[in-house]
Amino acid sequence: MSEKLESYLSATVGRELPRREFLRLGATAAGAFALAACGGGTASPGASAPTGPDFKVGGILPTSGTYAELGDSIRKGMQLYFDKVGSQAGGRRIVVSNEDEAAGDPSIPLAKARKLVEQDSVDLITGIIASPNALAIRNYVDQNKVPTLISNAGVNALSRSQKSPFIYRTSFSNWQPSQPMGRYLVDKGINKLVLVYSNYAAGAETAAAIKETYSGQILAEVKPPFPNTSGDFAAFITQVNNARPEAIYVFMSGQDAIALLKQAKTQLDKSIKVTGSGFFVEQDVLGAIADAAPVGAVTGLHWALTLDNKENQEFTTRFKSRFGKTADVFAMQGYDTARVIVEALNAVKGKTDDKAAFMKAIAQVSFKSPRGDFRFDANSNNVINTVYVRELIRDPKLGYTNKVISSLPNVVDPGK
Ligand code: PHB
Repeated sequence: MSEKLESYLSATVGRELPRREFLRLGATAAGAFALAACGGGTASPGASAPTGPDFKVGGILPTSGTYAELGDSIRKGMQLYFDKVGSQAGGRRIVVSNEDEAAGDPSIPLAKARKLVEQDSVDLITGIIASPNALAIRNYVDQNKVPTLISNAGVNALSRSQKSPFIYRTSFSNWQPSQPMGRYLVDKGINKLVLVYSNYAAGAETAAAIKETYSGQILAEVKPPFPNTSGDFAAFITQVNNARPEAIYVFMSGQDAIALLKQAKTQLDKSIKVTGSGFFVEQDVLGAIADAAPVGAVTGLHWALTLDNKENQEFTTRFKSRFGKTADVFAMQGYDTARVIVEALNAVKGKTDDKAAFMKAIAQVSFKSPRGDFRFDANSNNVINTVYVRELIRDPKLGYTNKVISSLPNVVDPGK
């Protein structure tokens, strides 16, 4: 392995690996680079030039507003996986176009879904960061039988009362990261909690999920508006301090999480522990807040940069090398979504006219993901996740990041 690659892996993977392990990892990464360069890939060995019509993927992801960075990560994660297989599967070239999910007005993503289907004739829709937007496109894609893979928005109803045979979710339901965390916090002796969450579906469903297993006292629920356009969280942090909890449990993401944590650094009482579903301390946020990172924060999420498996090492290394950006949970979700598309296209040999058969192929996809085993639950059309309990640390090589301290496997949305 070249010295350059070796020092790069050391910097990005950041573990003190024994030399033999280092060589193995280097060989994997180098092999992946070489395959990507000649247009091949592990998922379609020996693929020849595509013969069928292009398979058109229409992404709907934000390019501005609170969640713009999340959209960027998902797009890049998808691109990384499609590149790995030479952007083809089942004898078809895969072509991706993206529309702006926009922020705030759910009629915009619905209009974008219509445009992608009716003008651009896409074969599949993916993306959607925000819960209300996933609900907004639900009836349209259901009625028009458009295969759809939601790659972030966690709104529970899509796995329950609003489930559609044409919608599968590769990310999580809002219930998933938080339902197991209530019991975990009680077991750790946290008996007085304040919930802090962006005041919309994703925050409210997070709060409801933790209440299912948290048997301590919830002293208050502090609900900043979503998005918090003023960027000012002072009054909300004061509400938390006044309630005198042992810990806060947070749902927030993107720019709102960045602003909250910067202000909490000086304003939140030092005695209050920080916990939550992991989005508010994901790598997109940590990269933006530097020393305002709440070291010691304990969060639940279905991935961590430091997760120690071969697929994650390859993914995080290649992502950083390709884009110069540290991977985050959203990038991982994009990467897995692209893989689901590739595996399903290969399974039906590129024949997607029979929509029911194509959806069945999607439902049956399973593989080793950077998050661990990936498979769908047939009852909820939603991915089954391991929820990793993570502790925020400052790593000498990786900087601020989340270390996995416990794994809660097989977290399956109840589906009703
Ligand atoms: C959601 O609206 O479902 C949502 C948005 C951002 C996240 C997680 C969930 O980080």
